Amino acid sequence: MRKALPLFLALAAAAVLLRMGQSAVTADNRTTIPAETKYVALTFDDGPKAGTTDLLLDGLRERGASATFFVVGEQAVIHTDLLRRMQEEGHQVGNHTWSHVRLQGSAPEVRRSEIAQVDALLTEVLGEGMYWLRPPYGQVSPGTEQEISVPMVKWSVDPRDWESRDRKKVVAAVLANTKPNSIILLHDIYPSTVEAALEIVDVLQAQGYVFVTVEELLRLNGVTPQPGVLYRTGTG
Ligand code: NI
Repeated sequence: MRKALPLFLALAAAAVLLRMGQSAVTADNRTTIPAETKYVALTFDDGPKAGTTDLLLDGLRERGASATFFVVGEQAVIHTDLLRRMQEEGHQVGNHTWSHVRLQGSAPEVRRSEIAQVDALLTEVLGEGMYWLRPPYGQVSPGTEQEISVPMVKWSVDPRDWESRDRKKVVAAVLANTKPNSIILLHDIYPSTVEAALEIVDVLQAQGYVFVTVEELLRLNGVTPQPGVLYRTGTG
């Protein structure tokens, strides 16, 4: 399944180019496909939220795009149906703390319980697994990394969607800054972000990009994720 997907999407992208009348056909009339697949990861924080996350999941499913969701425990506990759907539809689910606390500077027992409560919820709902951490605001205090038993994920593209809440601005900022192996930060709790994300998928898929989870992105680059290490792109 995972091996067949990039070729399928490459062919789909070629088909889109054909419909647009662009040069996806060579002189000998054979269809060309991108020589090298470009991978990218969409990440969504602070949900899940009814009315936005479900629409996003619908759109990602229609497009055959995978993503990573870093959920807040307070939200996740009331939307366990959405958590299950994320897992069933091939997305990665990760931990964004129980109440979105700034881990940097908080007391050791607060850090521990904020992370452990979400881990317990995800284990209960989704089963045993490695639920990676995105620390709220993207960082933990230097020297506390050894407390973290899973890989941590930051980002390389941040369109500040929570600030503008403007579909066009978010799309433009992401398209201007995304490269192969980018990790893109978005928030699935805003209608404008859901619209922007699906437009971003359409545009980048037509350029030959394939949307994978963060875990898949690292694996595709031969990176073995380590506990307590913060990853910003697919190459490290
Ligand atoms: Ni957040």
